[in-house]
Parts: sequence; C-alpha cells; structure tokens
Amino acid sequence: MIRTNVAELLSSDNFLHEIIVKGWVRTFRANRFIALNDGSTINNIQCVVDFENTDETILKRITTGAAISVKGTLIESLGKGQSVEIQVSEIEILGDSNPEEYPIQPKKHSLEFLRENAHLRIRTNTFSAVMRVRSALSFAIHKYFTENGFYNFHAPIITGSDAEGAGEMFTVTTLNPENPPKNEDGTIDYSKDFFGKNTNLTVSGQLEAETYAMALGKVYTFGPTFRAENSNTTRHLAEFWMIEPEVAFNNLDDNMDLAEDFIKSVISYILQNCKDDLEFLDNRLTQEEKSKPAAERSEMSLIEKLKFVVENNFIRVSYTEAIDILKNSKPNKKKKFQFLIDEWGADLQSEHERYLVEKHFKSPVILFDYPASIKAFYMRLNDDGKTVRAMDVLFPGIGEIVGGSQREERLDILKQKIKELNIDEKELWWYLDTRKFGTAVHSGFGLGFERLVQFTTGMSNIRDVIPYPRTPQNAEF
Ligand code: 4AD
Ligand code: MG
Repeated sequence: MIRTNVAELLSSDNFLHEIIVKGWVRTFRANRFIALNDGSTINNIQCVVDFENTDETILKRITTGAAISVKGTLIESLGKGQSVEIQVSEIEILGDSNPEEYPIQPKKHSLEFLRENAHLRIRTNTFSAVMRVRSALSFAIHKYFTENGFYNFHAPIITGSDAEGAGEMFTVTTLNPENPPKNEDGTIDYSKDFFGKNTNLTVSGQLEAETYAMALGKVYTFGPTFRAENSNTTRHLAEFWMIEPEVAFNNLDDNMDLAEDFIKSVISYILQNCKDDLEFLDNRLTQEEKSKPAAERSEMSLIEKLKFVVENNFIRVSYTEAIDILKNSKPNKKKKFQFLIDEWGADLQSEHERYLVEKHFKSPVILFDYPASIKAFYMRLNDDGKTVRAMDVLFPGIGEIVGGSQREERLDILKQKIKELNIDEKELWWYLDTRKFGTAVHSGFGLGFERLVQFTTGMSNIRDVIPYPRTPQNAEF
C-alpha cells in the first residue's frame, strides 16, 4: 500500500482504495473526527474513527500535536466543509503529544508568544502558509533568472570587504577575545588571525558578483547577508537573504526594467501556485485590519495588492522630484514627519518612502538619481557631478524593497571616489582590476528576500517571515 499525502488525497477522486497517510493531529472531536495535517497543504483531511471498535487507550492518545499513521479508505464526505474524508480502519500512534504541556493549542496565539516558540510555530496555519509561500518564492526566483539566461553565482560569505561602506559588519576571527595579539600601537594584529587579515561576514555579494558579470554577462546571487546594524524595527534583521543580479552592459533604465519584470514575475508565480495559502493569509490580514482604526486600514486585500503590483507599472520618479513632493506634503508642512524635509540632499526615511508610495502615488515607486553623498562609493556619477545613478524600489507597507544602481565603470572617477571616502584602495585591487581590463557599463540591484516575503504574505513583522530570526539581543534556536 502506498503512503500518500493530504494534498493528494484532498484533490483525489480515487475512492474506495485503501491508503495510508501520516501526519499530526490538529484537533480531535467527539472521539470520532480527527483533523489531520501533514504540511503538504494548509488544509486538513478529516479522518473518521470507528470509535466503538477502537481501543480506548489509543483514542486517549489522539491529542493535538500527536504524530499518527492512518490506514483507511477515501470516501466522499457528507459533512460540510470538505469534499472527501478517510474512513479509518487502523490507527497507529507514532509519537504522543502531552496535551498538558504542548504549547500550540487549537486556539489563537499571539505572534509574540509564537516567536518565543519558533521551533513549534511552524505547526500553525499562519506560519506553515508563510513558509510555504517563502519556499515557492525562492523557487520562482531561481526559475526567473535561469529562464532569462542568468547564472547563479555563489558569493563568499566570509570576506575582507565592506561592500556598502557602512561599517556594520560582524567580525570573523579565531583570535582569543580575551588576549588578542597586538600591534605596537595597541590595535589588534590581524596578521596572526586565521586568514592573516581582518575578515567579516558579508554585507553584500555585489562586488564579487560584478567581477563575474564581467565574464559571464548575467549573474545573480541568492544567499545569506549579515548586518550588525542596531535597528530594532519590523523591517530589519541581522541575518537576512538577499538576491543580487548583476548585468554587463545594462544601464540604469535596463536595471529598473529588470527589477520590475522580476518582481512581477515571482509574484505572479505565487498567485498561480500558492492559492490556498494566499487565501488563508488574505483572510488573516482582513481580520487583523478590522482591529485597526478605519484611517489606517488598507484599501485593498492582500490578494488585491499582489494583483495590483503585477498589473500596474511602477512609477519612476527622480529623487529631486520626490523631495519637492515631500517638501510640499501635508505631513511635512504640519510637522507630522519625525524627520522634516527641508532641503535637497536629505536622506529619505521609511516614513517618507511610505508617504510617497501609500499616500501620494498609491503605487510601487522607483526613485532614482539620488545625491552621491547618501549612497555607496560604487555608484555611477551623473554629469551634474552631484547625483548618482542609484535606484530604490519602494513598496506599500514595506518602504525600500530593492536598492541598486548603475556602477561607476570609469577607473579614474572610481579611484577618486574611493580616495574621498578614505577607503583603502589596496583592499579593492581586485575590484579595480575590472575597470582596468575590459571595463563596461553594468548595473545590478539587491532585493531583500524577507521584505518580499513580508509583502506577499501580509505579515507586519520581518521576524515572522524567516524561520529563526536574528536580531539585536536575540539568536535563540
Ligand atoms: O540597499 P542595500 O543595502 O543594497 C546593497 O546591499 C547593494 N549592494 C545591492 C546591490 O546593488 N547588489 O540592500 C538591498 C536590500 C534592501 O533594499 C532591503 O530590501 C534589504 O536588502 N535589506 C535588509 N533586509 C532585512 N534586514 C536588513 N537589515 C536589511 N538591509 C537591507
Ligand atoms: Mg538601500
């Protein structure tokens, strides 16, 4: 007899054959009806137990969370809410779950409580739906790039470079923290360290990806990324996953086209392939929104939002235009923004990004041509001498989801920039080589994977879209 899974059974009309299915009990009611889930779908299958002919000690062990094996026949269901069910002939308890101790009871738990039980929260409908969508998105991303002629490039995780120049890095060392070797001036002597130099966990695979784009043409990375920024927000993690395509001969317009097409493609994929999970998450969000004051409620449901993104063009606006809009906006004039916008050159905070997207344009927005002073060293300088070919894609509810740019391909200008920022040119010798040997226009961007999962699942806290979140003061599990 073949073991089957719940998803297959629920869409089957192969009645009256004996089957075996294994999973975990969600609920058991009236000593008769088991709701069984095995992770293959958000839906449970109802297993009807012949309690008169089942040992009482077995019946007692059918508790929420227990692992069981069910043998029986698939029949058309007469009950409401399901089309098929299993008439159980034999039931085996594989693993008990003591109801007095099991934390995940069939009732509503707060997300905070579930975060503390992150090893068990995946057994709830909400988290299983989120993580199935996360998995589908990951597949859709590899599918998109593979089908569009990109090569997957594995960037190193341990590196000596600070690609973003923000200095928010986790050091990687085998030196004894209590007694590290010192230089004469009292600084740590990293020449004695494992790699013979100061190394850190990567903040971005971009610089290495650029070297590969200069030979393979189109590459992308999809890997873990680490930032030691002390931001305890609903959108920041210390360990997150980033997708970074890099394309030789693409300029900034091509880069914007790629980002837009890519995001639309992966969202279309889950709309087609994650229907049950998205419907569940859509309902969940609608319920959650009801508890908010009317003015803060979203005008669209989750699925409507996803369709809106797929079906509409992202609005492209220069930084300079955006600053004008923000300067003259109501929240700026009424001093409602925490950071008021009074002049060109200001860095945009998430409140400004969200105002543009949610209130002003009511659409995803791509902002481009930012002031050079607020962006990283590698971005291409415009002819005005003060802006760079940067782009950020801004999403409703999220703010920045993508950051990217056309890269500075001119060796002299790049070197000048590195000097101005006091970056050690010697550290970047290999990066500068790409500008010495066959340099070319090229562009790329980074998409924060968890921010995409947040947007597509409607979860408001980034800690709830990655299995085991790493944030300041928290690395449990
Ligand atoms: O804008 P960022 O810093 O850009 C880069 O790292 C470039 N090197 C990318 C490139 O051009 N290849 O980061 C890119 C994206 C952000 O837009 C955001 O979505 C996400 O990465 N991100 C984070 N996500 C979660 N937690 C954090 N701490 C994040 N920092 C950035
Ligand atoms: Mg950014």
